[in-house]
Amino acid sequence: MVNKVSFTESEEESLKLAHQELMKGRVVAIPTETVYGLAANAFDEQAVNQIFALKKRPAYNPLIVHIGRKEQVEELAQNIPATAHRLMEAFWPGPLTLLLHKKNSVGDRITAGKSTVAIRMPNHRLTLALLQKLPFPLVAPSANRFNHISPTQPEHVRLSLGANAPFILDGGACTLGIESTIIGFSGDKPVLYRWGALSREDIEIVAGPLTLQELDENDIRSPGQLKKHYAPHTAMEICSNIPRRLKSLENQRVGLLLWTRRPALDHEPQMVLSPRGDLNEAAHHLFAALHRLDQMDLDMILAEPVPDRGVGQAINDRLRKASAR
Ligand code: TXA
Ligand code: MG
Repeated sequence: MVNKVSFTESEEESLKLAHQELMKGRVVAIPTETVYGLAANAFDEQAVNQIFALKKRPAYNPLIVHIGRKEQVEELAQNIPATAHRLMEAFWPGPLTLLLHKKNSVGDRITAGKSTVAIRMPNHRLTLALLQKLPFPLVAPSANRFNHISPTQPEHVRLSLGANAPFILDGGACTLGIESTIIGFSGDKPVLYRWGALSREDIEIVAGPLTLQELDENDIRSPGQLKKHYAPHTAMEICSNIPRRLKSLENQRVGLLLWTRRPALDHEPQMVLSPRGDLNEAAHHLFAALHRLDQMDLDMILAEPVPDRGVGQAINDRLRKASAR
């Protein structure tokens, strides 16, 4: 189905530029509903190589293929489980990535030699229009340097990649603000590989109970599972009793990342993820707040965990990885 959305003149102009760059085998930063991605032609090995170079991403870390129409999944994957079809129907376009048996059309560079390929259909009006105009799907990792904080605004892409930043298709701030949930399959049974913007609860309604893929350091199936990831340069710690920890850090410059408003906590700087205590709002603000705190030249960031339900599970996962040493 072709997108019938209308665009402003400047959006049309940017879409045209992005299209031209990608057709030439170049990399373009694209907005999605989760985070910004660094995109290139999935069927052009040189273009794919540029992404690894720009991100300083190790070759063992496979990429997600982004499509603009659900039917494209058949060009990339085979033996697709029935549960996977149900999930696509329910959640695409949206923040869900599926690990499926790859076809030969998908190069080994993309999958890092694995037999599965990660596929998702993102839900952003500009990027969907772009994907629907291109004669190929796009591989796109998050548009940050490897292991650093993910970008949810064009400015974050510039900050993270500096002079190496490619053309950025400006789609504003990402609405969801946290990466897609990654689901693989054991037979027809869903397996969670990465916590993400689509909640476990929502997935289980459609796919039944999820099992969690145990982290095995020697077999990095999903580097989103790496212990340290999504990390600021500043040291960070998760802490549920912030007033007490602040006392023990008296001589240091400490910034707070709070889940919700704490009127009694008279300390600056502090960033509140959701003044009204809403997990979706917290997810939307998470990476931008981390970027801000990371630029304040602090000795330490103290982060308060959020309630561990819905997208809160993904937020807590990112906080743990950002604070791992
Ligand atoms: O929301 C998102 O998923 C964003 C936007 C741009 O779409 N993309 C994103 O890509 O987060 P990236 O590369 O930062 O994270 C993709 C994760 C990595 O941890 C990678 O290891 C995993 O997906 N992955 C990709 N292909 C895989 C495969 N075949 N098997 C296991 N894990 C895979
Ligand atoms: Mg990433």
